[in-house]
Amino acid sequence: MDCRKIENFLSRHLKFPHPLLEELYRLALEEKFPVVEPSVGNLIYFFVKLLRAKVIVEFGSGFGYSALWAALACDWNCTVHCIDYQEKNRKRAMEIFEQLGVSEKIRYHVGEAETVFSQLGFEDESIDLVLFDHEKQNYSGSLDLVLPKLKRGGVIIADDVLWRGEVADPSRENLRLSSLRFFLKEISQRGDLVSFVCPLGDGVAVIQKL
Ligand SMILES: C[S@@+](CC[C@H](N)C(=O)[O-])C[C@H]1O[C@@H](n2cnc3c(N)ncnc32)[C@H](O)[C@@H]1O
Repeated sequence: MDCRKIENFLSRHLKFPHPLLEELYRLALEEKFPVVEPSVGNLIYFFVKLLRAKVIVEFGSGFGYSALWAALACDWNCTVHCIDYQEKNRKRAMEIFEQLGVSEKIRYHVGEAETVFSQLGFEDESIDLVLFDHEKQNYSGSLDLVLPKLKRGGVIIADDVLWRGEVADPSRENLRLSSLRFFLKEISQRGDLVSFVCPLGDGVAVIQKL
């Protein structure tokens, strides 16, 4: 079955925590701005609630669509650290966060994700949930950077890991695909992690630190 049809079906059966999320997703499609699929937003929402996450960090936040799913899930004190290269994304995201009354929960940092993450100086084992949606060739390096700061039991959700299914097609080869293949192999083989990959959106890896 066609993946687009499945995504459309799943979206129709989702409970969006705020109607603006549907509007923002439509807007992103119109603008061809890549954001997580609503089904992946819902997965993020689920894990924030499951973990009762208080400290959340996102690598690659764009105009804040995925971070919004995370922030709306917290009806407790939490901080969502968004990181993105682009100031114009920060500006737009903060307007949206303010409109939805969640801006107090957000710290939006502009810069290269790994550099900013290191500068933020998180204490060891202090982060509950990390979202990866930055350059796919960086996922593996970012994993090494993030793991010491992630709590035991904490989770990383990495989007786009199947890259339109191309990752599973051995006839396709480029740096992004080989990096994602390496990342998937690494998370499945490391003894300090447990993980699964589900084919929502462009493929999502969910990784827990043991
Ligand atoms: C797929 S979009 C993110 C969309 C967002 N997660 C959402 O679903 O709403 C990827 C974003 O990551 C940013 N980005 C990519 N690599 C980055 C890096 N190494 N450091 C900081 N930002 C990065 C881009 O500027 C872009 O806005």
